[in-house]
Amino acid sequence: MPKILVTGGMGYIGSHTVVELINAGYEPVIVDDLSNSHPRILEQITKITGITPVFHKVDLCDETSVKKLVEAEQDIAGIIHFAAYKAVGESVKDPLKYYHNNIYSLVNLLQGYHGKPVGLVFSSSCTVYGQPDQLPVNENAPVKPAESPYGNTKQISEEILKDTIASGANYKIISLRYFNPVGAHESALIGELPIGVPQNLIPYITQTAIGKREKITVFGNDYNTPDGSCIRDYIHVVDLAKAHVAAIKLLEKDEFKGYDVFNLGTGKGNSVLEIITAFEQTTGVNLNYSIGPRRDGDVEQVWGDVKKAKEKLNWETMLGIDTMMASAWAWETYLSKNPL
Ligand code: NAD
Ligand code: WQD
Repeated sequence: MPKILVTGGMGYIGSHTVVELINAGYEPVIVDDLSNSHPRILEQITKITGITPVFHKVDLCDETSVKKLVEAEQDIAGIIHFAAYKAVGESVKDPLKYYHNNIYSLVNLLQGYHGKPVGLVFSSSCTVYGQPDQLPVNENAPVKPAESPYGNTKQISEEILKDTIASGANYKIISLRYFNPVGAHESALIGELPIGVPQNLIPYITQTAIGKREKITVFGNDYNTPDGSCIRDYIHVVDLAKAHVAAIKLLEKDEFKGYDVFNLGTGKGNSVLEIITAFEQTTGVNLNYSIGPRRDGDVEQVWGDVKKAKEKLNWETMLGIDTMMASAWAWETYLSKNPL
């Protein structure tokens, strides 16, 4: 079984990807410092798959630990690099924390495996497009000045990866630009685990519905969209996880060389108000919500052109908004009965 190193594999998208790698016959090896994840996620992965992956508790910013990791894990067929901090608001307040962790961990990892022929998949974000001039936005659209230090770490990381390939290093690299990942595994044993007050829409909705939050505020209904609320391309995390397996398979091919980048979304946009309605209709739970002012830094509307991923990764999304809402709700309900 080809071994795939999954950094950040205890996190939200990482844990779902570990499950899909196992389902596809790979042997994932998890590297995580648990700075934004719970140790029990490993057990949850075992409950789903019957397999307990090897887990290295390593901070990728620690050069010595990364050297030891590379010595211990020489025979890997690929790397999926999820490990990073991701809270946009926190990155504005503490930019150095974000530049240090997100950039230094990537550089350490690349230096660690330098000289070895390894395929690497990198977690990028649609945030690199800002408010695109054309919708749906494709991979050739210009990268706009980042709205936050977090977003900037994704832009800088993409540049680092391109420069690494241009230098003739022995890597093959794919950057995946995710739109808005939501939902949870159908088992409801893994899902998103926001620490503190959630910043993102879906965990805020589910925490309001379960009674942890009093109400949810819709950030603006005066945008130039059909119902006035912002539009995003929400993608089910299991579809997203499967795209990483597809990216690993593309990297395995001799004809794939160098560096490439793919949008990962459904290709369709939904407004905040549509999401609230979908949640209420799918779960039968009424949400306490009100309309509030716009949130600083929000783009009005964005959804992806996903033709390139369909053609070259041979991948497309299968799961719709209803499944996203139902699975996110099942996970929140599970957590309320089985707190991690
Ligand atoms: P997450 O926080 O759930 O997972 C990230 C994992 O990385 C955590 O388990 C954390 O403990 C670990 N980690 C962080 N710094 C580390 C370090 N220095 N060494 C070792 N482990 C470290 O986040 P997620 O939502 O699963 O996101 C995964 C990746 O996808 C991130 O790079 C994120 O920026 C990117 N991304 C996420 C979204 C989203 O909305 N969730 C959208 C676009 C891109
Ligand atoms: C979605 C929509 C809000 C909360 C962020 C990052 C981005 C990427 C994904 C990593 C927006 C509205 C939200 C609430 C609301 N992450 N909203 N009330 O901002 O599209 O993207 O996560 O790369 O970089 O910026 O996602 O879930 O925060 O918001 O009305 O309480 O929901 O205004 O329109 P966003 P989100």
